[in-house]
Amino acid sequence: MSIKTLQTELKNLKDKRVLLRLDLNEEIDARGKLVDNFRIESALLTIRKLVKAGAKIIIASHLGRPEGKWDKALSLKPIAECLAECLKYKFVETEDSLPSYKIPHVILFKKPLNKRGVAKLLGDQSAHDIVMLENIRFYEGEDNNSPEFAELLSKFADYYVNDAFSVTHHPASSIVAITKRLPSSAGPLLEKEIKSLDHVLNGNIRKPFVLVMGGIKIEDKAKTLRNLSRRADKVLLGGGLANLFLCAQGYDIGKNNISKASLAIAKELLLNLKSKLILPADVVVLSSKSATKGKAQAKKITDVGITDQIFDIGPQTILSYSKELKQAGTICWNGPLGYFEDKKFRAGTMSLAKVVGGLGKRKAYALAGGGETVAAIRLAGQLEHFDHISTGGGAMLEYLAGEKLPGIEALKK
Ligand code: 3PG
Repeated sequence: MSIKTLQTELKNLKDKRVLLRLDLNEEIDARGKLVDNFRIESALLTIRKLVKAGAKIIIASHLGRPEGKWDKALSLKPIAECLAECLKYKFVETEDSLPSYKIPHVILFKKPLNKRGVAKLLGDQSAHDIVMLENIRFYEGEDNNSPEFAELLSKFADYYVNDAFSVTHHPASSIVAITKRLPSSAGPLLEKEIKSLDHVLNGNIRKPFVLVMGGIKIEDKAKTLRNLSRRADKVLLGGGLANLFLCAQGYDIGKNNISKASLAIAKELLLNLKSKLILPADVVVLSSKSATKGKAQAKKITDVGITDQIFDIGPQTILSYSKELKQAGTICWNGPLGYFEDKKFRAGTMSLAKVVGGLGKRKAYALAGGGETVAAIRLAGQLEHFDHISTGGGAMLEYLAGEKLPGIEALKK
């Protein structure tokens, strides 16, 4: 069963009010400033297509997890401001009627949607403005996939577009229930995500296929690892994930904390995927009592002692992983290989990002995703050299695990 896509509907959307669900859940620092704007940038193409088609755009997005409560710290204001800047629009916010200017504005609409008269207020939208609703998770109905909340949302629009791949693994009201109330389709970003992930999952890929997995939580990644390992020829492990497998193999991993439950999963995976899994032969450690201070040094994995804490893969491992990657026809990467946020432990993730960036779009098909992975690849200046950078974290892992995502199922014809 295929999904309906926006491209074929664009011609019918002139002057129509389009509810555009995006995932603009960006990281915001303590001063309320955006740390990154990858998801905002990724949404621009869709917005521009809708503007060109003459649609009146109403954006719905979430930020953080306010769980149905209004929380000023999770307002979409910095997101709306950044979007306005990217589009070269002006920004304005309102708690009441929509202002009307001669030049295009992104208008953050802060009035609670369940108040009387909102449909009338939103109905006054100028064709050249973009309205952004305040954080959709401020409403209890969103997380509950409430039909009533979807009904309320549907009053403000004629058409619904889902371009929020990274939240399609949640049965939320503005993702699933809304599709029962408005004619709906998938936006170009969602379409590209599905196409790219399907390519790796079931497509006619170039071999060898090398999977790179790092990060911490094995509980979130085990199913994906199992599913992709059926196709992958090699699986290169780094980060906290590698520590678990090293421990499961009987190596001393010093002060790194691991739970019994995680270790049990690693042992099971090791048993079943052993021939494909490649683990670091050396690592970068800190040997001191303090958490992150002290001198970083590379050690063979056999030399790691009780006072060491592992923070990155070592130089020998960078070399051997690079060799594996340079032979690959297809590469899929999720999770950093070390604690790259600290300069001392950045070499593993940065070096491999550069290697994969050097292969992508030419010698190998390169796909990566996950919030931290994207941040690391951006830091290495390699984002545009990958064939596809997924906006999804949990959604990408679930999709690659072979799960059916409710938000995508809901758009099937
Ligand atoms: C994400 O950042 O992966 C999505 O926005 C989903 O956010 P959530 O994990 O809070 O549901």
